[in-house]
Amino acid sequence: MSKVTVVGAGNVGATVANVLIFHEVADEVVMLDVKEGVSEGKAMDMNQTAQLLGFDTKVVGCTNDYSKTENSDVVVITSGIPRKPGMTREELIGVNAGIVKSVAQNILKHSPNAILVVISNPMDTMTYLALKSLGLPKNRVIGMGGALDSSRFKYFLSQALGCNANEVEGIVIGGHGDTTMIPLARLATYKGIPVSTLLSEEKLQEVVSSTMVGGATLTKLLGTSAWYAPGAAGAYVVESIIHDQKKMIPCSVYLEGEYGESDLCIGVPVILGKNGIEKIVELNLNAVEKEAFAKSAAAVHNTNAALKAVGAL
Ligand code: 2OP
Repeated sequence: MSKVTVVGAGNVGATVANVLIFHEVADEVVMLDVKEGVSEGKAMDMNQTAQLLGFDTKVVGCTNDYSKTENSDVVVITSGIPRKPGMTREELIGVNAGIVKSVAQNILKHSPNAILVVISNPMDTMTYLALKSLGLPKNRVIGMGGALDSSRFKYFLSQALGCNANEVEGIVIGGHGDTTMIPLARLATYKGIPVSTLLSEEKLQEVVSSTMVGGATLTKLLGTSAWYAPGAAGAYVVESIIHDQKKMIPCSVYLEGEYGESDLCIGVPVILGKNGIEKIVELNLNAVEKEAFAKSAAAVHNTNAALKAVGAL
């Protein structure tokens, strides 16, 4: 019997739940939101698609009733406000830090063994906050960002190559921010062929830039933050844990010396299985990539410092 809770039934949270039930990832999915009736309504709506789409997973909605989340194996935290056009993810820290901290504390009371997947922004800092404020072992707190950013990278690569996105491999490491993420163009491939041999340097740089501002581009178009790819990326991370798939997925995780960094959560490739983070994969970065990673880490440290300023840590 596997159970997943999604906290926050807004666009992203509801999409995580919808993908999880459609793919029958868990036996039960619980959605919890602070807004009266919203998660109950969305759960009923989703349950009414079961016969049309042919799945058996049940989804339950509740308003702030943490007892319903009891004994969840994995809990996805999407709570907080999304960014508006022109905002950075980092600007959300003042509001979201308090929300994410209290959600994480409530969750832990009812599911002491749960693995947490954090989506709320600024994602690397919210992951660090959850880890530090709860004192959980580092294998149980995972930020989703790199899974999403890598999916966007593969999308933009496939557009530039004119090929099937499922035949492209690409990894994005670093922070989940417009200027901090690092799409690793050197390691990206199309059916095993380095994309650097298929695309001009200029085109590749365009792909990298589009990936970095991928979230901001959508925020401008939609008037709020994106949800289909963020939701699907959250569900992808959950599936690798619940089904013990041992997939290598770039995620924001706590580093203790790996990649030359410590005391922060930042995106690097990890193996995800039933124990959460089962291994941090250390890529052999070149000098330019190492420098970009150090710069990204410095920016994430800087945002983390604001947790103290807002009284969250
Ligand atoms: C994004 O990049 C929600 O931060 C998320 O769209």
